[in-house]
Amino acid sequence: MDDRPIGIFDSGFGGLTAVRALRALCPEENIVFFADNGRAPYGGRPRGQLRTMAHQNLAVAASCGAKLIFAACGTLSSNAADILAAYPVPAFGVLDAAVAEIAREKSKAPIGVIATEATVRSGAFQRALQAACPGREVHAAACPAFVPLIEGGRVERDDPKLRRAVEYYLQPLKERGVGTLLLGCTHYGLIAEALGDYLGGSVRLVDASCCAAAFIKDYLEENGLRGGAGTLRCLTSGELERFERLAPLFLGQSEPPQTETVPVMPAEEEA
Ligand code: DGL
Repeated sequence: MDDRPIGIFDSGFGGLTAVRALRALCPEENIVFFADNGRAPYGGRPRGQLRTMAHQNLAVAASCGAKLIFAACGTLSSNAADILAAYPVPAFGVLDAAVAEIAREKSKAPIGVIATEATVRSGAFQRALQAACPGREVHAAACPAFVPLIEGGRVERDDPKLRRAVEYYLQPLKERGVGTLLLGCTHYGLIAEALGDYLGGSVRLVDASCCAAAFIKDYLEENGLRGGAGTLRCLTSGELERFERLAPLFLGQSEPPQTETVPVMPAEEEA
């Protein structure tokens, strides 16, 4: 039994959907979640800054004694995959988890990836999917309006502004006949209904957050690391009141989790 916590981080609330899925699958695990709300959103930032932030967020998780660290953030996992892989504590991200899930599909239909601008620009999801799913076309679309809409609470499937944005970003993928759509940003699971409504029931939506939970469970089991008392501790670099108000919504619970604030770190570009 290893009751050290699992360290999970994201720019903000999207990562809590991964925490929620993990708690459903492994309720006994202790989790420390770092929400870098003070620096969100990440999706429009330059790669050098994102790489610095990956180092910093890993250090926050490691300082909590994490046995495993998980970047529940498509933007950091795609721009800093090498930094995660080289870290002295085992560290993974949604890129690893989502690609492993899609590689299991038998389908040969084209794969669509939607994510932040920085994720799509990195090309990391496209390369990893092409390597893991030979013979399948991969088409990626950056959807910069989604995170602000989601953080602003516009997540209902019939929200007119959200529906217009979904159609705008997804039309080219629909025209290419994608059979699987990877939600490569952990915020997007919150608008899965609107995405599914537009694409129709024959397209499989793969939510990177849900893949994270299964991936973490498998890793812990394979390495004899399961154990804990089911605690959740949150750290936010943003406003405590806002985090405590919104976190229960993303976690699917009525009470705010135990939360502390941490200072916003300077995000100078990696040299
Ligand atoms: N949820 C994160 C991701 O998966 C970051 C979104 C953002 O901060 O722009 O990419």
